[in-house]
Amino acid sequence: MLEQIQEAVGFIQSKTAFAPRIGLILGTGLGALAEEIDVQASISYEEIPHFPVSTVESHAGRLLLGHLSGKPVVVMQGRFHFYEGYSLRQVTFPVRVMKALGIRSLMVSNAAGGLNPDYEVGDLMLIEDHINLHPENPLTGPHHAGLGDRFPDMSEPYDPAMRMLAKQIARERGLRMHAGVYVSVPGPNLETKAEYRFLRLIGADAVGMSTVPEVIVARQLHLSVFGVSVITDLGVPGKIKPVSVPDILAAAARAEPNLTRLTKELVARLDSE
Ligand code: HPA
Repeated sequence: MLEQIQEAVGFIQSKTAFAPRIGLILGTGLGALAEEIDVQASISYEEIPHFPVSTVESHAGRLLLGHLSGKPVVVMQGRFHFYEGYSLRQVTFPVRVMKALGIRSLMVSNAAGGLNPDYEVGDLMLIEDHINLHPENPLTGPHHAGLGDRFPDMSEPYDPAMRMLAKQIARERGLRMHAGVYVSVPGPNLETKAEYRFLRLIGADAVGMSTVPEVIVARQLHLSVFGVSVITDLGVPGKIKPVSVPDILAAAARAEPNLTRLTKELVARLDSE
């Protein structure tokens, strides 16, 4: 895997000398932030050696390097999911590549179902902690010290300073943002009523099919992590309706301007040395 990372990095660096300090992974229906980037290089996933290719139509499948709020960033416009048939090693490979390109922090977004009865469709939820219900782990298998820690600490996966900054920005800008626990499930089916009840009972505020694998690898690599969910539907008793992907995408699109504002402001205030 270390050789594969080096090959991917070598290819990207043959296209651009740009050195990113912050990585961003844009979730389902949340790719428009890319329009805010002063792009220096745009590389389609298919071109990058060993990169999986995104099969989800709502994901663009491009790596963008450039400036956001004046800071050097690398953006994954579209991510990989376990439900597409990739192993979690493949799903998280781009995180390792971004780390090797020089990022120090990783910001992730996703579309999620709300479990907390206070949540409404279109709300943002700052991820304070997570529960991993993926049936695999991206770190399973033979270990090499070059990959990072064998047993990464997970007592505080989401960077407290970035969380505080984001709350401050949301307050200043009047953005409706909750803070809660994200639980990851493999999908691709959505939850039954009983499953939503179960996920609430075990302590989650929102449920989705991504993010946790990437965060585990990011923490293995000692990246500072920041995560936000956009609540696109509700798994709250009495409010559960049949959900479709078009509904999820429409809700994500409505919430996106708030997410974009928050992300731009947060990036502007991050130290990118
Ligand atoms: N469940 C799981 N994943 C999701 C949901 C949901 O309700 N909404 C968006 N992604």
